[in-house]
Amino acid sequence: MNRKTESRKADHVRIALTKDVQARTRGTGFDGMEFVHYALPEMDFEEINTSISFLGKRLSAPLFISSMTGGYAHAEQINRDLAQACQTFHIGLGVGSQRAMLEDAKMRKTFQVRDAAPDVFLGANIGAVQLREYGVKAAEKLVSGLEADALFVHLNPLQEVVQTEGDRNWRGALKAIEKTCSTLSVPVIVKETGAGIEGVVASELEKVGVKAIDVSGVGGTSWSAIELYRNGADAGNVFWDWGNRTADCVKECKRTVSIPIIASGGIRSGLDAAKAIRTGAHLASAAMPFIQAQEQGGKKGVEKRIRQFVDELKMTMFLTRSKTLAQLREANVRT
Ligand SMILES: Cc1cc2nc3c(=O)[nH]c(=O)nc-3n(C[C@H](O)[C@H](O)[C@H](O)COP(=O)(O)O)c2cc1C
Repeated sequence: MNRKTESRKADHVRIALTKDVQARTRGTGFDGMEFVHYALPEMDFEEINTSISFLGKRLSAPLFISSMTGGYAHAEQINRDLAQACQTFHIGLGVGSQRAMLEDAKMRKTFQVRDAAPDVFLGANIGAVQLREYGVKAAEKLVSGLEADALFVHLNPLQEVVQTEGDRNWRGALKAIEKTCSTLSVPVIVKETGAGIEGVVASELEKVGVKAIDVSGVGGTSWSAIELYRNGADAGNVFWDWGNRTADCVKECKRTVSIPIIASGGIRSGLDAAKAIRTGAHLASAAMPFIQAQEQGGKKGVEKRIRQFVDELKMTMFLTRSKTLAQLREANVRT
């Protein structure tokens, strides 16, 4: 096992949980958006239906826990707690980068949560640069080892460029994604990690066969900040808030692609999720709130946080006269 990969993954979680690594000067861009409030909802709260289909699977709410961890001992418990909570609510889950599994097959158990989440939409995960390096066969192994429904390929050029040992050669990453899209047994979803996929890159990805885009924009966790705390890279400070805001990404992707868009990066409540959906996202996703909930209260803590997200989404739907997500997409807003 490459000890470097193992300790890096443990460091990321430790730093995320002990330091303030949220965007400092820029928000998601959803702040200025306001739903029109209807003082006469004219419906029973219980009638609200948040269920949605995503790449062939049913979710009871348009919500995902974003890719985070795996590849070191304690990650197994984190992933199990997240998975069991997702199973309770029938929402989606991504595991963290499975690079460690490619380097040491024994690490599989820190990612493999299918037994705990038999019905959940489960996403495998690998970086675009590792995909180029290891190839499609390795990606297929990651998917089958997890019994995953899709492969999330993450784009993290900001994180790579600000750290001292990062990958600075990104030639051929799109080609590797294209090859994977044409041969992998499950759909490929491409995600950023907090600096945002806007319309141009989204369109390039759609053209090579990517089936959904998870924008992961600015407004939440900053990977520049995490790298600053991990190895003191000064550039981490300069680029702390670098990137495309989540709301801008959703708007721009909506203009250029017709595949589903997942809104993530700074989504912190069911109201944020509702705003993202109203802006054009199919689903919303968050990382930091759920790893914090797991740290504080294990599986029960994660369940509590998911319940809160879903409830807040339903409250927004109630107050905007939206019984379904289709109606929420048309809800009246003041801009
Ligand atoms: C502790 C931690 C570890 C992460 N590890 C990964 C990873 O391995 N692969 C990945 O695609 N994204 C990873 N991310 C990025 C998230 O999936 C997400 O894109 C980003 O944190 C923005 O969402 P947030 O503002 O809700 O945290 C990680 C995030 C956190 C907080």
